[in-house]
Amino acid sequence: MATMAPDRPANPVSAPGLTMGHLALHYGKPEEGPLASRLLQVMGLVETQVLPLPNGNFYRFVANREHYARGDGIVYLSCLPEPQARLIEAIHQALHVGTDHEDDAVKGYRAMMAQDFEASFHFGFLVPTLEELEALVQALRELEASDPAFKGRIHVGMNRARRGDAEVDVRLDASPVFGNAARYAYGSAGVQVFVETDLVRAGQLGENMVFEFDYIFPDRASHILSVVEL
Ligand SMILES: [Fe+2]
Repeated sequence: MATMAPDRPANPVSAPGLTMGHLALHYGKPEEGPLASRLLQVMGLVETQVLPLPNGNFYRFVANREHYARGDGIVYLSCLPEPQARLIEAIHQALHVGTDHEDDAVKGYRAMMAQDFEASFHFGFLVPTLEELEALVQALRELEASDPAFKGRIHVGMNRARRGDAEVDVRLDASPVFGNAARYAYGSAGVQVFVETDLVRAGQLGENMVFEFDYIFPDRASHILSVVEL
């Protein structure tokens, strides 16, 4: 049975409690910093600082242009530290990652991820309008198709809302992006877009990062981010 999530704090004015602070990400090689930064900006993040370092630029981003100088809503991006790059390489060698005889554990992990972008580590952003989310998908597809630097480095997937809300179903059926989406979210009244890229290195094999961008239809008490439905 579905249960409502307690997504409203009891006293939001005087006791805001925790907020999401910052996320620290890494790109793979020093020369890939500018490309990774550009991708984050296409995805809507606002670059506020670039600090050149010998082993690749250090970047700071905020989640939107209305962001003010608090300690939350921040994304940091820097080059993989050398010990971490060595660890990833050791894991890859031990498990034959990237060869035609990958360890069964690697095969199982890849099979899981092929079924569900959200199955392992990922980070989600909330997008204010469906139109902005549709424009983001189109911009990413255009970037991947037209700029050789991004060729093969951006993979976009999506889940549309579960059927059953006529207004949502009609809007999504007419969408240039979600109209022919074949996958459905674990819930209603919202859509999810997943951007998998090897320009940011994370995940259990250190190969790529999965970003999620969600839109929630207004005035729905129950939606994909408030309650998970099986
Ligand atoms: Fe997610």
